[in-house]
Amino acid sequence: MCGIFAYLNYNVARERRYIMEVLFNGLRRLEYRGYDSSGIAIDNDLSSAAGEGERPYASALPLVFRQEGKIESLVRSVYSEVDAMGLDLEKSFMVHAGIAHTRWATHGVPSPRNSHPQSSGSWDEFLVVHNGIITNYEVLKETLIRHGFTFESDTDTEVIPKLAKFVFDQARGGDQSVTFSQVVIEVIRQLEGAYALIFKSSHYPNELIACRRGSTLILGVKGLTDEKSYAASFGDVKTLTADGQPKELFFSSDLCAIVEHTKNYLAIEDNEVVHLKDGSVSVLKFDYSKEKPASVQRALSVLEMEVEQIKKGNYDHFMQKEIHEQPHSLTTTMRGRLRDKSVVLGGLKDHLKTIRHSRRIIFVGCGTSYNAALAARPFLEELSGIPVTMELASDLLDRKGPIYREDTAVFVSQSGETADTLLALEYALSNGALCVGITNTVGSTLARKTHCGVHINAGCEIGVASTKAYTSQIVVITIMALAIGADSISTQSRRESIINSLSDLPDKVREVLRLDNEMKDLAESLMQMQSLLVFGRGYNYATALEGALKVKEVALTHSEGMLAGEMKHGPLALVDETLPIIVIATRDACFSQQQSVIQQLHARKGRLIVMCSSGDAASVCSGGSCRLIEVPLVADCLQPVINIIPLQLLAYHLTVLRGYDVDQPRNLAKSVTTQ
Ligand code: UD1
Ligand code: BG6
Repeated sequence: MCGIFAYLNYNVARERRYIMEVLFNGLRRLEYRGYDSSGIAIDNDLSSAAGEGERPYASALPLVFRQEGKIESLVRSVYSEVDAMGLDLEKSFMVHAGIAHTRWATHGVPSPRNSHPQSSGSWDEFLVVHNGIITNYEVLKETLIRHGFTFESDTDTEVIPKLAKFVFDQARGGDQSVTFSQVVIEVIRQLEGAYALIFKSSHYPNELIACRRGSTLILGVKGLTDEKSYAASFGDVKTLTADGQPKELFFSSDLCAIVEHTKNYLAIEDNEVVHLKDGSVSVLKFDYSKEKPASVQRALSVLEMEVEQIKKGNYDHFMQKEIHEQPHSLTTTMRGRLRDKSVVLGGLKDHLKTIRHSRRIIFVGCGTSYNAALAARPFLEELSGIPVTMELASDLLDRKGPIYREDTAVFVSQSGETADTLLALEYALSNGALCVGITNTVGSTLARKTHCGVHINAGCEIGVASTKAYTSQIVVITIMALAIGADSISTQSRRESIINSLSDLPDKVREVLRLDNEMKDLAESLMQMQSLLVFGRGYNYATALEGALKVKEVALTHSEGMLAGEMKHGPLALVDETLPIIVIATRDACFSQQQSVIQQLHARKGRLIVMCSSGDAASVCSGGSCRLIEVPLVADCLQPVINIIPLQLLAYHLTVLRGYDVDQPRNLAKSVTTQ
């Protein structure tokens, strides 16, 4: 979904080409979120600005570039326009504020005029990049049109820079001097909906303002004299005053775009207005009920992320890298959380008593995150003895399903920014439930708005199709079940055996990853298929759903995950000699039922691919021909972690063989921040 990036260099000489490349690179880091157009704004030179005589202000005009399609097409068009204008790319700026954006169309088709930055009108006096949706934009637009503004785009965003100009002109008309933050605060007073915004204005050259409500925005701070001692010298944004020290400041909707520049960051909170001016950072907290915003002091955090995480390394695609990274990501997920015979979840320990006394545990999520919770649900039911129900976030919201104070609602989201999940969280909070988050993203809205939770620590996931986050989510929920059930003596030996299996899990994952070539082979044999069915049950019903989802998402092939127990109630009608069917039949309490499913499919000459535990080949495929995927056996509740991996590999290879975009599949976004 939409992405924001901004770069301000202060008291350090940076050439125009360098500034542009920092902005382009920021956009490339946001690419994985999904987008359909992009844009940047930088400064022109005062001397070379056309039509100078008519300009209503003295400073340099901004230059705005917007383009539909891939970022590389924006890059090409910017360089060719800059060349045509005769703009000096080597010109150096001691201070300069640039902004950039990737757009995922919601209001208006992908096109340059609907891309961001959106503008206040001729002269681009105010420019805005925006993530989120302004829900009252129609009424604001009507008002602004009545005041003589003309609109060029179909976006909701365009009202924001126009409103800024309106506010600025009104104040100026009354001969008042008005600061940039006063203008912005007056604008956001009028806005309803969700947003992360960056403002740039030629009336306030070399300044930037960022603010947010319900949409993530991060400030990155890089001291240039001596990064280490500089970092140590300020723990606090309040000390980031105008000290004249050279520095570089970044805004982004995503930590991934900041990590290569600095690890010192601030997660901006709702209703905060962050103003960069003369090398200082000021944070104002805005309150609707009060006339004046209050100045607040915020501490910088240090990012625990390595630059390697956002690079492909020796892999061809991020999805491939992330699949193969799972032994490592699972290790970091479990790090510090497994003891000899017990588990520790720092984020939940103070809430376990409340969870144990809940009347019900409700899992809420979307897509892969929902599937991960579904995979771990049987074990949580077994260890907690509490009814565990599943909710797709959008469906919970559509139904306004009942949630009570006695419930524990667990929200699962890799990004922590999925709009449906966050709205469901608001709903559960307002009904008084204990709200627990399970997310991969420190500082995300989910992490901040839940009462407590667990970070899955899987590392940055860039491929749109979630892989390593899925297996880490299952493991975290399994550890959560162990923590909730820790007060029961009757399940102690079961718990200890699962803790042992968790310790062995990364090695077993390494083993199953050796099926890579076999899965490539299988993908070649399935290349022409029109459709695929995946049957699972028990612990592996979720594996069937998730395996089918992976194939659907990236290989753009129809595929359905089905509960094997429902086979005779409809799906059996589809079985013939051509339709490929994957049956998951690894060893667990449902094994004999799955054997019977295989027999029934054989009897109808189904085209079978059976996933079984190592050594079970002969017994599972006795009644007919089938292709086998043999996987290592682990504890029943952890088997979904192993079983999904061959299906992730299959989806990956099918996609590559078919020549589709692996990391950014058609029409999909990594982070679905709108409903
Ligand atoms: C924490 C530290 C980790 C450190 C460890 C040492 C963070 C982010 N984690 O990990 O760096 O090594 O202590 O003991 O600083 N939370 C929510 N909602 C969510 C997710 C988390 O409210 O969706 C809260 C938790 O309740 C907790 C905090 O965020 O208060 C950190 O959670 P988590 O990282 O899972 O805690 P630890 O594993 O203890
Ligand atoms: C989108 C992604 O649909 O959101 C999926 O394309 C993902 O991969 C789903 O599973 C939920 O995202 P999150 O961040 O809430 O886990």
